[in-house]
Amino acid sequence: MPQTVKAIRVAAYGGPEAMQLDELTIGEPGPGEIRIRHRACGLNFIDVYQRTGLYASPLPLALGMEGAGVVEAVGEGVTHLKAGDRAAYASQPPGAYCEARVMPAKSVCKLPDQIDFETGAAMMLKGLTVQYLLRQTQPQGGLHPGDFVLFHAAAGGVGLIACQWAKAMGLKLIGTAGSDEKCQLALAHGAAYAINYQKEDFVERVKQITGGQNLKVVYDSVGKDTFVRSLDCLRPFGLAANFGNASGKVPPIDMGLLAAKGSLYVTRPTLFTHIATREATQAMADDLFSMVKSGAVKIRIDQRYALKDAAQAHRDLEARKTTGCSVLLP
Ligand SMILES: NC(=O)c1ccc[n+]([C@@H]2O[C@H](COP(=O)([O-])OP(=O)(O)OC[C@H]3O[C@@H](n4cnc5c(N)ncnc54)[C@H](OP(=O)(O)O)[C@@H]3O)[C@@H](O)[C@H]2O)c1
Repeated sequence: MPQTVKAIRVAAYGGPEAMQLDELTIGEPGPGEIRIRHRACGLNFIDVYQRTGLYASPLPLALGMEGAGVVEAVGEGVTHLKAGDRAAYASQPPGAYCEARVMPAKSVCKLPDQIDFETGAAMMLKGLTVQYLLRQTQPQGGLHPGDFVLFHAAAGGVGLIACQWAKAMGLKLIGTAGSDEKCQLALAHGAAYAINYQKEDFVERVKQITGGQNLKVVYDSVGKDTFVRSLDCLRPFGLAANFGNASGKVPPIDMGLLAAKGSLYVTRPTLFTHIATREATQAMADDLFSMVKSGAVKIRIDQRYALKDAAQAHRDLEARKTTGCSVLLP
């Protein structure tokens, strides 16, 4: 039976005002699909890139890539889920800012009973990102307890998960954040050091903290404002992982710079390459679930918005007013 649901969409790329609450008709799931009724939807910076067209998608575009809820129906060939299951996901295509949707089942995972829906909605995209960064995006020779890593925007949604996960791996995470309060939050979540990069030169501070040795790896999601200076925090053969553009896209760089700064490695990873198969998604989700169930990683939700107020959520995220995770409640 077709049913009508509320969903946030953009008809044309633009600011938060481009987001509108529309009514959509959804039907039964086809082969490889499920229908899920959301209890909570996750807010992510990628939603901003999609809204503005920095990451272009066909219009009109339903926003949102993360959610949790109850599976209502499964299509042919779906064996890992059934109607009535609690589930959560980070998934393409966008369209999670809604009451219910029909979507590919591949990236949807059963949510363990111990994890509530809001936590599930907040943690899948961000937690799986931290999983692939710290566990799978490592410098030559790997990461070992006692190693320093630099992680920018450490008090944000991805950032606070990274602080805790790095500590659990025995790493000394140096976090940057845009205020002294945010720095305190990063420290309280397991960062070994925090640098307020609005006031302090993070390159100099990293040198001091590491006794002049610099780092094997930097995880940089701020992009334009930080990336070239992030390279100066690396030791020879170090790895720079640019995984976001919160301040804008990194402009093209001269490859000679990597030679001049010491045979550096650069990667521009995305979660969706890592969760391309059901098997990889489930293995990464199992790792995330066990980190959360053990209490090693706590998912901090500092902002909750009604689904209809998604535009305000975007304004707050872009104005750097948020900390930790944010969820939209349908
Ligand atoms: N490639 C991937 O697979 C992947 C997956 C997930 C997320 N990401 C990226 O990871 C980053 C964090 O995502 P999130 O959803 O957890 O967001 P978030 O960290 O909660 O919010 C972004 C933070 O970036 C910092 N920032 C620095 N310069 C900024 C600017 N000019 N405008 C706005 N914010 C600025 C702000 O923290 P301060 O005030 O402390 O500087 C802000 O709070 C984003 O860049 C996102 O695109 C990438």
